[in-house]
Amino acid sequence: MLTNLRVLLIISGGIAAYKSLELIRGLRTGGAHVRPILTKGGAQFVTPLSVASLAHEKVHSDLFSLTDESEIGHIRLARETDLVVVAPATADILAKMANGIADDLATTVLLATDRPILAAPAMNSRMWEDASTQRNLAQLHADGVMTVGPAHGELAEGEVGIGRMAEPAEILAVIENALSGPLSGVRALVTSGPTHEPIDPVRYIANRSSGKQGHAIAGACARLGAAVTLVSGPSAEADPPGVATVHVETARDMLEACLDALPADVAICAAAVSDWRPAEAREKKIKKDKSGASSTPADLKLVENPDILATLSARENDRPRLVIGFAAETDDVVAYAQSKLATKGCDWILANDVSPETGTFGGDHNKVHLISAAAAGESGVEEWPYASKLDVAARLAERIAHALGESP
Ligand code: CTP
Repeated sequence: MLTNLRVLLIISGGIAAYKSLELIRGLRTGGAHVRPILTKGGAQFVTPLSVASLAHEKVHSDLFSLTDESEIGHIRLARETDLVVVAPATADILAKMANGIADDLATTVLLATDRPILAAPAMNSRMWEDASTQRNLAQLHADGVMTVGPAHGELAEGEVGIGRMAEPAEILAVIENALSGPLSGVRALVTSGPTHEPIDPVRYIANRSSGKQGHAIAGACARLGAAVTLVSGPSAEADPPGVATVHVETARDMLEACLDALPADVAICAAAVSDWRPAEAREKKIKKDKSGASSTPADLKLVENPDILATLSARENDRPRLVIGFAAETDDVVAYAQSKLATKGCDWILANDVSPETGTFGGDHNKVHLISAAAAGESGVEEWPYASKLDVAARLAERIAHALGESP
C-alpha cells in the first residue's frame, strides 16, 4: 500500500521521538521512502545517526546550511513529497503550524508545503488540554491538517492521562487510509449525541441519545480516509481515533461549530438535537418559593432551536454535496422519513426504528431504512438488516464513498 510513497517525516522534540524510529522502519517496510527532518529539540531525544541509518537518507535539520540548500533547497524538500508527517508533534510545533510561524527548517517546510500534513501530537496532558493547544488544533483541522492521537496512558512524567503519541502501527494505518481509502480527500462533518439546553446553572433539558451511532459513523468515515470533524453534544463515548472532535453543549453551539467546519463534502446529522430550549437560561439556580412549591414548570417558557440539518441543507454557496439526516420513528417509519426528507431538504434520511422493543436508544444495535429521493424506477427505500451500530456506520460510510464517487 505504501509502495513508492514519499514521506517527509518531521521529528520534533519529545520523548516520543524514540517511537519515530519504529515509524521509519514501518514506513520503509511498507515500501515508502522516508526523508527525515530532525528539529533541534528532536535531536535531544534521538540522534541524527540513528534516524539516517533507519531511513537510509540524509537527515536535514538546518535551514541555513549552505550545503543542504545547494543540494536540495527547503522549497524542494517541501514539494518533493506525497505526505508530510510530524511525529511527534509537540505543543510548540502545533502552535507554530497553526499560526504560520516559520523559524527553523521544519516549520518553514510546513509553511511552504502544498502536500497533505498528518500530525501525531505528543505532550503532557495539561499541555494538551490547555485552551491554547485546543484552539491551535481546531485551527489546524480547519486548515485541513490531519491528526492521529494522542492516546490515553502513562506519560513520561509518570502521570497517567491523555498525551501519548499514537503507536507507529496506528499512524501507519492512518497514512494508508488517508492516501488510498475510498473516502480519501473527502471532508466529512458528523453531529452526534444529545444537546443540553440549560434551564439554570444546575438543570437542563436533554434526551436519551448516547452518541453511539454518530461516533461510530465518524470513526467509520475516518477509517475510509475522510478528514472528519465530529461535533458532539455531551456523550460518554470516547473521541474516535483520527477524528477532529469538537465538544459542544447546546443546539446553538452545535450549529456554530458545524458552520465553522464548512466546507465539507458530506454532512451526517446523527445528533438528537433538542428541538426546544428554555427561552431564558437563568443565571442563578431557580429556588422553590417560600411555601415550598416550585415556581416552575408553569413558567418555563420554551423557544425553538435552530434546525442544523435543515440549515446545512439550505446553504447556498457551501452546501455539502451530500446531506444526510436521521429520523427516529416508532411507527410508519418509512412514510414519516419520506416526508422528513422533503421538509429538511436533505438528500438521504436514515430512519431508525426506536420502538422500545428494538432497544435502539442507548443500545448497541440499530434497525435502519435508508430513504433517498426516488430515482426513476426506484422506490428510494432500502431496508437494512438489524445490525450493530458499528456495522450500520461501516455500511453508511461505504455508501457515501460510492455516492460521492459517482457525483462530480
Ligand atoms: N436535527 C437537527 N437540528 C434540530 C433538530 C433535528 O439537525 N434542531 C436533525 C437530527 O440530527 C436528525 C434529524 O434532524 O438528523 C431529525 O429530525 P427531527 O425533526 O428532530 O426528527 P425526530 O427526532 O425524528 O423528531 P420528530 O419526529 O418529532 O420530528
